[in-house]
Amino acid sequence: MSVYVNISDIAQYVDQSVEIRGWVYNRTDKGKLQFIQVRDGSGIVQCVAFKKELDEVQFDIASKLTQESSVVIRGSVRADSRAPGVPSGFEVGIQSLELLQKAEEYPITPKEHGTEFLMDNRHLWLRSSRQWAILRIRATIERSLRDFMDSQGYLLVDTPIITPAAGENTTTLFEIDFHGERAFLAQTGQLYNEANMMAFGKVYCFGPTFRAEKSKTRRHLQEFWMMEPEAAHLSLEDMMTLEEQMISFVVGRVLENHPHELALIERDVARLEAIKTPFARISYDEAVERLKQVYDKTEDPEQKDLLKIEWGEDFGSPHETALAEMFDRPLFVYHYPTAVKAFYMQPVEGRPEVCRSVDLLAPEGYGEITGGSERIYDPTLLEERIKTMALPREAYQWYIDLRRFGSVPHAGFGIGLERTVAWMCGLPHVRETIPYARMLSRNYP
Ligand code: 4AD
Ligand code: MG
Repeated sequence: MSVYVNISDIAQYVDQSVEIRGWVYNRTDKGKLQFIQVRDGSGIVQCVAFKKELDEVQFDIASKLTQESSVVIRGSVRADSRAPGVPSGFEVGIQSLELLQKAEEYPITPKEHGTEFLMDNRHLWLRSSRQWAILRIRATIERSLRDFMDSQGYLLVDTPIITPAAGENTTTLFEIDFHGERAFLAQTGQLYNEANMMAFGKVYCFGPTFRAEKSKTRRHLQEFWMMEPEAAHLSLEDMMTLEEQMISFVVGRVLENHPHELALIERDVARLEAIKTPFARISYDEAVERLKQVYDKTEDPEQKDLLKIEWGEDFGSPHETALAEMFDRPLFVYHYPTAVKAFYMQPVEGRPEVCRSVDLLAPEGYGEITGGSERIYDPTLLEERIKTMALPREAYQWYIDLRRFGSVPHAGFGIGLERTVAWMCGLPHVRETIPYARMLSRNYP
């Protein structure tokens, strides 16, 4: 009798008979020997069909297996240090083989393909080992973020996707028709988080968010996932401590659970092992000073142009990269100019031109991965800001109400899942960090 096993557990079945249900990843023909790489979603194992040990019909099927054919294989597990696979070092000597479906010629072969072609075939590309590794790491990051917030006493409270008001910059809204009324896809769950925070103290939401970004960059998606914690009586400084603990917890989980995946995508794990608390904290003022020094020292005119900055301007990717390069771990930049940030941010006392905001910049040029702030909790000031930003007051009445019934100082932040995955996996572009990327010119498959 053979037991049905997951390839990831194969090490426990050496010298036993197992059944593997999977897909043919690759096959090498050596005449009387067929080396068949089989994947089942949990791992990849080499299965060997030997002409002498298999009935004739089955060996014939084995020697004609095409890539991605679906198969059920029974055989005995052997430990063999030469055997490739995930995990490596094991192979299965095939005793019987059942072909469920012989796949047509597969469009994605182990040879090189262009990115656009692969993105057009994303529904099939997901089966490639690199994509498999990335999305497994994504799942761990997502789960660890939740686990961390749960362990800190934060309650998961879901927020709506169809909303009557903008949460962030009004230039990136996706407008929809809500039975004849104007509505938008949520850019953030934050405003509802603030109401939920007043009910539950410490909350977070974790869902898809939408931004009609008009430019193509390697960091922006039209649809991305964000986790957003919000807590009463949380100061900006305590929030930074919470964020750095969260990041180092997640990095630890990824390192612990994914040595095979990290090796498959050739991630330099030393860069992740360096992620230890505390992270550096610098003010926007200091960041601008540091950038000006880099600017002065830069000789290449093109690069120099990108690094140009005046106090009051928001950072672009080149600025964030230059700042992050000064540190070996993520960097907090706090107290940004009020004018470049959202309407709800609390001004710094005695210096209202800057606000109690903080962004976390990832190392290695990955840019901003979290953004957050203390929120305005005075109703008059909030109303003023809504007016100055020319936002429709009616749509925000409920949000202003929160400041009328037991207002408290509070703060929160959002962490972008895809940018976090891109950084932790060391990927050049966010498009591979989500199963089906939605980008300026892509809504297929
Ligand atoms: O800085 P953002 O816009 O902050 C907010 O939405 C706040 N309401 C969060 C809060 O305080 N509750 O976005 C937060 C993070 C960014 O740091 C980035 O990681 C990610 O969301 N992000 C994007 N990721 C991919 N594609 C986009 N278009 C993104 N826009 C923001
Ligand atoms: Mg931001």
